[in-house]
Amino acid sequence: MNLIVAADRRWGIGRDGGLLASIPTDMKYFREHTTGKVVVMGRKTLESMPRRRGLPNRINYVLTTDPDYEAERCMIVNSEEDLWKELEQYEPDDVFLIGGAALYNRFYRMCDRLYVTKMDADLDADTFITCFDDDPDYEVVSESEPVTENGITFRFVVYERKESRE
Ligand SMILES: NC(=O)c1ccc[n+]([C@@H]2O[C@H](COP(=O)([O-])OP(=O)(O)OC[C@H]3O[C@@H](n4cnc5c(N)ncnc54)[C@H](OP(=O)(O)O)[C@@H]3O)[C@@H](O)[C@H]2O)c1
Repeated sequence: MNLIVAADRRWGIGRDGGLLASIPTDMKYFREHTTGKVVVMGRKTLESMPRRRGLPNRINYVLTTDPDYEAERCMIVNSEEDLWKELEQYEPDDVFLIGGAALYNRFYRMCDRLYVTKMDADLDADTFITCFDDDPDYEVVSESEPVTENGITFRFVVYERKESRE
């Protein structure tokens, strides 16, 4: 499984239930990596999306404890156990964890590759993820040149789990 996230300097990822910034090049990067793939998200992330429905051209899994939950274009799972069972049918490399903080923090260690858009700004977040730089099991394997868009300078950084490279 892979993970994809946009984080600010303090590893903030959201505010008031939404994203911190709108960066078209980052949205394109996200689309390019996840289109045709399987995406896994928490219920709150789904509810932050337009019309509260799954992303087009992707298989969407939504984790919630609500057994009656329904959402357009989404497969609903009510436990981690059910989620792992479902994901067994896919190539691990085709699965992307797309948020939010609850899922990133709980599951990032199960991911081989972490695609992080690092925004060089403090965007007043109220929702944070673990600083991947502090995890000795992961290392940066690529880092793009910085790009500035809508007043925010960012770079695309990829981490890989060390043992998955051996
Ligand atoms: N910057 C980025 O790249 C990025 C990406 C995605 C999201 N975000 C931001 O992150 C924020 C949302 O993150 P969040 O942590 O508040 O919420 P979240 O992770 O999207 O969703 C949390 C919900 O997922 C369900 N859940 C989590 N673990 C579960 C488990 N083990 N079993 C069953 N259900 C489980 C629960 O739903 P129920 O309460 O229904 O049981 C829980 O309330 C928003 O601000 C969003 O914009 C940012």
